[in-house]
Amino acid sequence: MTSKISKEIRLKSRPEGLPAKSDFELAEVALPAISEGEVLVQNIYMSVDPYMRGRMYDRKSYVPPFQIGQPLEGGCVGRVIESKNGGFNVGDHVLSMLGWREYYVSGGDGLTKVDPGLAPLQAYLGAAGMTGMTAYVGLLHIGELKEGQTVFVSAAAGAVGSIVCQIAKLKGCYVVGSAGSDEKVAWLVEEAGVDAAFNYKTTDDVIAEVGRHFPKGIDVYFENVGGVHLEAALEHMNPNGHIVMCGMISMYNAVSPVPGPVRMPFIIQKKLTVKGFIVMDHLDKFNSFIADMGKWAAEGKIKWKETIVDGIENAPEAFIGLFKGANFGKMIVKF
Ligand SMILES: NC(=O)c1ccc[n+]([C@@H]2O[C@H](COP(=O)([O-])OP(=O)(O)OC[C@H]3O[C@@H](n4cnc5c(N)ncnc54)[C@H](OP(=O)(O)O)[C@@H]3O)[C@@H](O)[C@H]2O)c1
Repeated sequence: MTSKISKEIRLKSRPEGLPAKSDFELAEVALPAISEGEVLVQNIYMSVDPYMRGRMYDRKSYVPPFQIGQPLEGGCVGRVIESKNGGFNVGDHVLSMLGWREYYVSGGDGLTKVDPGLAPLQAYLGAAGMTGMTAYVGLLHIGELKEGQTVFVSAAAGAVGSIVCQIAKLKGCYVVGSAGSDEKVAWLVEEAGVDAAFNYKTTDDVIAEVGRHFPKGIDVYFENVGGVHLEAALEHMNPNGHIVMCGMISMYNAVSPVPGPVRMPFIIQKKLTVKGFIVMDHLDKFNSFIADMGKWAAEGKIKWKETIVDGIENAPEAFIGLFKGANFGKMIVKF
């Protein structure tokens, strides 16, 4: 019999603009005893991700909206602490989408076992999980990257961007990243090994700066941000280039429609391929991703950074921090 109390974070109100801590509430629930076929999982790490902002709007999208008064959801990794399910033993580590809560009871559906001996547990939420997979699928499959191309990456020191930069370097490409602090820029050049990086927050003219870094033009732009970064890419793309539409975080908190890029005619003139994707539609590539990523990580060719925030009560702040560049690499909450 369990009589555990579990803390969880619920959506209290739909944010207007940048989310505020008051849009979230911390609640406590008494967990039921598990029944035959069920497990009790204690979460250890959870992910906060920019896409969660989209789920805070009450609108139709590729995932249903979060509901007011209900706990939020998202990627997490935890440990089975009670089991009446033959498929799981106490001590197993599992991934699920039931983040934003300390404990949960599950019938086992939607749980994936992970091995802490192969990678640190939190890496399954980052470089060894959907984050790494997003970079891999986006760059190699959607962007159709070829050896030796020129690649521009925005939010380059973020979770996805930092892996994109390094995969592109592994493929012998010329890579330039944009990031929001000098510390991030230094890491990109010194640790991630990009050819150049710049701090867009201290750059007067991002479009001209991108041009300076790409005297031979851009073959592949990996879009994480939108706004002036997309304008800069459109301006400097080479004919037949690819734009990988991964995310546009600068627009996620907009309170009114954001004007579209004025350089859209370049898509026609330069015969660009501009393609969006959702990583979850590409799970058929997961095994090749794990094989390649495992090899690259073992060879020390891929590095990743994490920003770890302690305590479920600080999860809203961690999430809000994504929109302020508070994270360096993957933003993770530790329970
Ligand atoms: N299509 C998919 O399936 C998929 C999957 C995962 C992620 N994504 C998208 O990929 C992008 C990166 O996601 P992530 O999880 O790796 O997040 P992340 O890059 O680790 O974190 C977000 C970063 O975006 C930058 N940023 C925030 N507001 C900005 C603004 N107004 N202008 C420019 N940069 C801004 C910040 O870095 P700075 O310090 O550099 O400003 C921040 O650290 C997001 O757009 C996300 O929605 C898409």
